[in-house]
Amino acid sequence: MRLILSLYKGGAVLRAFFIYLSKLQWMRNLILKLAFARQASRRFVAGETAQAAIEAVRQLNRQNILATLDHLGEDVHTEADARSARDDYVHLLDLIHQSGVLSHVSLKLTQFGLDVSEGLCCELVASVAERAAQMGTFVRIDMEDSAHVERTLAVYRDLRRKYSNIGIVIQAYLYRSEDDIKRLVDDGIARVRLVKGAYKEPPNVAFPRKADVDASMVKLMQLMLGDEARAHGAYLAMATHDVKMIDATKKFVAEHDISKDAFEFQMLYGIRRDLQQQLAAEGYKMRVYVPYGNEWYPYFMRRLAERPANVWFILSNFFKP
Ligand code: FDA
Repeated sequence: MRLILSLYKGGAVLRAFFIYLSKLQWMRNLILKLAFARQASRRFVAGETAQAAIEAVRQLNRQNILATLDHLGEDVHTEADARSARDDYVHLLDLIHQSGVLSHVSLKLTQFGLDVSEGLCCELVASVAERAAQMGTFVRIDMEDSAHVERTLAVYRDLRRKYSNIGIVIQAYLYRSEDDIKRLVDDGIARVRLVKGAYKEPPNVAFPRKADVDASMVKLMQLMLGDEARAHGAYLAMATHDVKMIDATKKFVAEHDISKDAFEFQMLYGIRRDLQQQLAAEGYKMRVYVPYGNEWYPYFMRRLAERPANVWFILSNFFKP
């Protein structure tokens, strides 16, 4: 029992440590230079170029799996960098269109200058949404740490007045999320990807215990798939690799006679491929989040934080003769 407790505590400490590392600029500069780390990141990142990512999507599409492409980047502090992120996304949308792959795009508002100016960020994301609408595709706004949640929701609400082809992410670990979902449902804009949450948050903001996060995720899933929410146009993307969460969703939809078209499952590139294929084969809509680009460092660190066993796996490969 003591061993289990210390492993659990060790896991929590490692998680906090990797999330802390994900924010360190000097560490980023160091790790990005290591060929071995770049190689290891490929477990979760489709490549450094948009072409490589499109090829990864093509392979997923062949297995009846949809995608959402993410050009990695976050924490941009100049207008020029934010504008360049917008240009990259417009180019990506052109490539999706030309290649004919089935993919949405996902983006982070801090990559589009949220910390520079909310107005600039809105303007740039609007131009991506506009281009995506012309091409009949969809833009998902990822959710970042709790310091950005309120502003991210504000930008989403603002953009939703004009664009219906955008959606948001809600994190089950935040106490506020139930109210956020209820408000989005009431306003008829609950196009929500539901996740557990990937950042390190204090206990006054987020549930510290995994069991409570899981219970919250099930509750929010049921809220999103409930009759009232669906009557208001709510659409759920249940984004998890947790078999318990997936089974709870399958059970709820079966019991309430909800069609498999009325929601979707989502997972991350490189994680539980077996489960991705199994859900697609069972006839569920399955979408995989496919990140690519040079800015893989913080994304990679968050993936290590989620499952410290990944670190041992990577290190053991490194030391293999
Ligand atoms: P949990 O962490 O309990 O893991 C369940 C099981 O999944 C593990 O036992 C393991 O088998 C497997 N697993 C999970 N993570 C793994 C990893 N890194 N490596 C290997 N196996 C792993 N978060 C956020 O804050 N904002 C966002 O916008 C998004 N966007 C997003 C999109 C999509 C499509 C997904 C699937 C997830 C996100 N997330 C996110 C991340 C999310 O918040 C969460 O951190 C991860 O999905 C891990 O949580 P699980 O629900 O998988 O459960």
